[in-house]
Amino acid sequence: MSVVEQVKIVTKEQLKNDIFKLAIESEKMASIALPGQFLEIRVNDDIEPFLRRPISIYKIDKEKNELEFIFQVKGKGTEILAKKNVGDRISVMGPLGKGTFAFEKYKKISIIGGGIGIFPLYELARQASKNAEITTYLGFRNKDFVVLEDEFSKVSGKLVITTDDGTYGKNGFAINYLKADCEKEKPDCIFACGPLPMLKAVRDFAIENNISAQVSLEERMGCGIGICLGCAVKDKKADGYKHVCKDGPVFNVNDVEF
Ligand SMILES: Cc1cc2nc3c(=O)[nH]c(=O)nc-3n(C[C@H](O)[C@H](O)[C@H](O)COP(=O)(O)OP(=O)(O)OC[C@H]3O[C@@H](n4cnc5c(N)ncnc54)[C@H](O)[C@@H]3O)c2cc1C
Ligand code: FES
Repeated sequence: MSVVEQVKIVTKEQLKNDIFKLAIESEKMASIALPGQFLEIRVNDDIEPFLRRPISIYKIDKEKNELEFIFQVKGKGTEILAKKNVGDRISVMGPLGKGTFAFEKYKKISIIGGGIGIFPLYELARQASKNAEITTYLGFRNKDFVVLEDEFSKVSGKLVITTDDGTYGKNGFAINYLKADCEKEKPDCIFACGPLPMLKAVRDFAIENNISAQVSLEERMGCGIGICLGCAVKDKKADGYKHVCKDGPVFNVNDVEF
């Protein structure tokens, strides 16, 4: 179930030059949201930009009736959103996505994220850490892009930060550190969100080593609710397609082609 609401922005924080965190107030959405779901945000009432913009839920606060999300300014839509202030109201549809992170049955979990793909992984780590041992691997381009280190370290037994150029944390791709740790002890499941090459590497490694894995795909979207067919991915198990917005965004790596 999802709703469309005019919601109030209750907090705003600039995490880096072009990365912002907003919290919105919605009892309905906060009460039903699950880790891995996303919101479709209408950034203003003008004709342009017409389409809502998909942004993942970063944190669900059921006590305060708030949802937080974090976004990087990319183009016109996110630029307008970044100029919003506490007290402003925006139209939000959500929470969206039937495919959420199914973590409940796993006791030893590896989480891997890259770039803006780390945002939906925080709520997963926060909830899963209550009953499971969490190891988190976060990869960034360089030191200037590193965010949320403290937040993830509080919900992870072990946190590995990597940068592609070695300017912060460990040098190289996060996936290499995950692979090295898995050789010592396999996790029950790997959860991933980030750039496509990283997701493909996770998929190949998980399948080769017989480890369960779930990935959150961030396809370009139109409607966000399964109507425009803009976000189709090939179904691996049946003829036809699944839609990232409706059936995902989180999929088992054995269920879709990407
Ligand atoms: C399910 C889902 C969850 C997402 N969660 C987040 C999030 O938590 N935080 C966040 O910062 N971003 C997230 N994104 C990406 C975000 O939706 C886009 O960056 C945003 O829509 C760009 O809008 P814009 O008007 O600013 O830019 P546009 O003018 O629409 O595009 C500017 C640039 O961004 C690229 N772009 C647009 N959409 C995407 C996309 N889906 N994936 C990759 N590149 C894109 C375009 O190719 C173009 O180069 C998510 C996307 C999806 C599908
Ligand atoms: S975005 Fe329209 S069907 Fe998924």
